[in-house]
Amino acid sequence: MRIKMDLLNLAEMKKLAIAFSKVLKPSTIVLLQGDLGSGKTTFVKEVVTALGSSDAVTSPTYTLMNTYQAEFPIYHFDMYRLSSAEEAMGVGFEEYFDKNSLDGVCFVEWAENVEGLIPSVDYVVEISKLSQNGRRVIIKEVANVSN
Ligand SMILES: Nc1ncnc2c1ncn2[C@@H]1O[C@H](COP(=O)(O)OP(=O)(O)O)[C@@H](O)[C@H]1O
Ligand SMILES: [Mg+2]
Repeated sequence: MRIKMDLLNLAEMKKLAIAFSKVLKPSTIVLLQGDLGSGKTTFVKEVVTALGSSDAVTSPTYTLMNTYQAEFPIYHFDMYRLSSAEEAMGVGFEEYFDKNSLDGVCFVEWAENVEGLIPSVDYVVEISKLSQNGRRVIIKEVANVSN
C-alpha cells in the first residue's frame, strides 16, 4: 500500500491521523521522515489523540523517547541527537524494536541516524512542506516476511 496526499492545513492532517490510527496495533513500527518542522511530531500528536489518549505529546529531542498511554502504549522516539545504532543500543533502545516482545506502537523520527537498529518496519510516513500549512504526505506500507 502506498498513499500520497496533499493536505491544505492542520485540520486535514488531523483527519489523516485519525484514519491512520485505525491500522495501528501493538507491535506496529512506524518511521517518520521529513525535514525539521515538516510535522512529524505533530502527526504523532494527532494519532495519539485519535487513539483516545489525553497525554501531552512533545518532541522527544532531548528525552530521546516519550511514552504515552492509549489503549496500548505508544513509544515516540527522536533519534536526531544520536549518530549510530550502537549509540541507541547503549541506551537500551533495541529491545523496543523486537516485535516478539513489543507491547505497543513505536513512532520513530530520524531513524536514518541509527541505521541497522530497527530490523522490521511496518510503515514509513514521509512528510514535506508545501507551504506554511500545506503538507505532502506519503505513507508506504513496508512488506515484511512475517506479514
Ligand atoms: N498541515 C500541517 N501538518 C503538520 N504540521 C503543521 C501543518 N501546518 C502547520 N503545521 C505546523 O508545523 C510545525 C511542525 O512541527 P513539528 O511537528 O515539531 O515538526 P517535526 O517533528 O517534523 O520537526 C508545527 O508548528 C505545526 O503546528
Ligand atoms: Mg519532531
